[in-house]
Amino acid sequence: MNQICDPARHFAVQLAATPHGARRARLLAVERIASWGLATEGPDLVVAELAANAVTHGRVPGRRFRLLLTLYGGVLRIEVVDTRGDRVPGLRDPGEDGEAGRGLVLVAAIADRWGVDPGPPPCKVVWAELDAAGRPARRDVEGRDPVRVDVKS
Ligand SMILES: Nc1ncnc2c1ncn2[C@@H]1O[C@H](COP(=O)(O)OP(=O)(O)O)[C@@H](O)[C@H]1O
Ligand SMILES: [Mg+2]
Repeated sequence: MNQICDPARHFAVQLAATPHGARRARLLAVERIASWGLATEGPDLVVAELAANAVTHGRVPGRRFRLLLTLYGGVLRIEVVDTRGDRVPGLRDPGEDGEAGRGLVLVAAIADRWGVDPGPPPCKVVWAELDAAGRPARRDVEGRDPVRVDVKS
């Protein structure tokens, strides 16, 4: 079976385009990524920033946004789909003061790649991929510590 179709490695959820929905996106992502045995630090911030953007800049009242997570070939791909396909995000100069404009700078710093693709109208997909996140954080599927090396005597 193609791994991308494996429900254990693919997660999708629709959420309200509200601050509560954005918080849920982060919580659900952390839960799922941890269940895949991966480190959640890093991916959690990416999801938080992309979801926050979806519910502020990408929001259409009454329309929900989607979070998709895929682990394929050791790469964790995070996709946030919102319904403002007519508005495209771009890096801003955060400047010296204030918090605004730091979200995508953070995403670009954490992710190995990120971008925006047109989705089925009226949607767009803001995505980020993390290569290192594909490495086990704690234990492999057989419960072994991945950093331990068995030396035969
Ligand atoms: N999902 C989105 N839809 C439309 N515009 C977006 C989206 N995400 C980000 N943007 C645009 O890109 C800019 C930079 O985003 P970001 O770095 O997260 O800064 P901030 O959210 O603090 O403004 C935003 O100010 C907004 O204009
Ligand atoms: Mg933002």
